Amino acid sequence: MQSRLVALEEGKDPPSTFRPNQSRPLPLRLLQFFLLFLILGLGASIVSMYMIRLGILNVNPVLQPEPTIRPCSEQPTSIESWIRPPSKLLHNMNDTELLWRASVVPRIKSYPFKRVPKIAFMFLTKGPLPMEPLWERFFKGHEGLYSIYVHSLPSYHPNFSPSSVFYRRQIPSQVAQWGQMSMCDAERRLLANALLDISNEWFVLLSEACIPLHNFSIVYRYISRSRYSFMGSFDEPGPYGRGRYNRNMAPEVNLTEWRKGSQWFEINRELAVKIVEDVTYYPKFKEFCKPACYVDEHYFQTMLSIETPHLLANRSLTYVDWSRGGAHPATFGKDDIKEEFFKKIFEGRTCLYNNQPSSLCFLFARKFAPSALNSLLNISSRVLGF
Ligand SMILES: *[C@@H]1O[C@H](CO)[C@@H](O)[C@H](O)[C@H]1NC(C)=O
Ligand SMILES: *[C@@H]1O[C@H](CO)[C@@H](O)[C@H](O)[C@H]1NC(C)=O
Ligand SMILES: *[C@@H]1O[C@H](CO)[C@@H](O)[C@H](O)[C@H]1NC(C)=O
Ligand SMILES: *[C@@H]1O[C@H](CO)[C@@H](O)[C@H](O)[C@H]1NC(C)=O
Ligand SMILES: *[C@@H]1O[C@H](CO)[C@@H](O)[C@H](O)[C@H]1NC(C)=O
Repeated sequence: MQSRLVALEEGKDPPSTFRPNQSRPLPLRLLQFFLLFLILGLGASIVSMYMIRLGILNVNPVLQPEPTIRPCSEQPTSIESWIRPPSKLLHNMNDTELLWRASVVPRIKSYPFKRVPKIAFMFLTKGPLPMEPLWERFFKGHEGLYSIYVHSLPSYHPNFSPSSVFYRRQIPSQVAQWGQMSMCDAERRLLANALLDISNEWFVLLSEACIPLHNFSIVYRYISRSRYSFMGSFDEPGPYGRGRYNRNMAPEVNLTEWRKGSQWFEINRELAVKIVEDVTYYPKFKEFCKPACYVDEHYFQTMLSIETPHLLANRSLTYVDWSRGGAHPATFGKDDIKEEFFKKIFEGRTCLYNNQPSSLCFLFARKFAPSALNSLLNISSRVLGF
């Protein structure tokens, strides 16, 4: 044991400065040490001077705030924090705070960074999304060009797998009732949450009963190249149109400005901000448009027709079939899903697209029952192009 230790010691190769050097006299060795410390000291002071200048070293630690661990999204010194979308969709803002935050708009209109405009797909649902597998197929391969937001009943707890495009895309939600202001509140909540991502340029409202009628490339091109936003908006005489107008809404809304249109819209960022910031029309509609005035068919449609009529296409992108009559449109099940069914939607109609006649009028359709899913998956690559 002893001999092994000795052997190890002998095998060591000590640093040259500590190697005993019997040939030099004592004063010279002292001078050597002195010079070494001098050089080390000089080096240290130069390094610390640079660190102070660069702000790495605190000169007066007492005056500095406690070092805190900041999440990357809160770097106040970097433009990154404005560009990157919020990492989590859940937040603690109430509606007042959320709408205020979402109404913050840059005044300089050109972006000093590369901004790839995205479409925000906003799903207004009760609970489950039965068409999820079809939407997954639709979105696949187009990451970076879309974002997804889901508003459902607060009591509903989704269990999307981490690989799903819907995973953790739920926003803080409240109960929304058909035909009531709480429905428009939910839509404004969706818009406000989507506005928090500066890259979202277009906003599409969908329900759990909606499906896409074309592949993502066509949808993106159609929406991004349109000069107008697709909000259905028309003046309808008769009890279900003008008949729902209440004179107490004047002078903000007169009968001649009263509009009706589908709840399901596509709007650009400018109009989304208009809806979120509105305090002029909101109280009028809240008080004077109650069933049988269905506020989700009138509020945004009328308001935007007054404020920005030149930006509206006055038609919806979502196909719906009212031909069967009644208060609700037709719901399609598995027996309806045939090639002829889609032929009927795609052919024999024209609409205006950028002021030119076009045969492509709808990008989405409703209402589809959960039973239609398998047939839709079977037919989608052949008929819908994805
Ligand atoms: C949100 O909170 C603020 C501050 O507490 C309050 O003034 C406002 O009324 C709240 N809004 C709602 C909708 O609860
Ligand atoms: C409604 O009519 C009144 C009186 O004619 C007018 O002052 C007001 O500007 C009109 N409102 C709108 C939104 O045009
Ligand atoms: C939509 O309707 C408004 C009137 O409400 C009109 O000013 C506008 O030009 C229409 N849009 C298109 C694309 O025709
Ligand atoms: C899928 O479509 C093919 C061809 O139309 C048909 O033969 C088949 O039965 C369909 N399968 C399902 C599950 O609907
Ligand atoms: C989308 O559909 C169009 C028309 O059906 C087709 O020409 C195009 O190749 C499709 N794009 C993709 C990425 O599948």
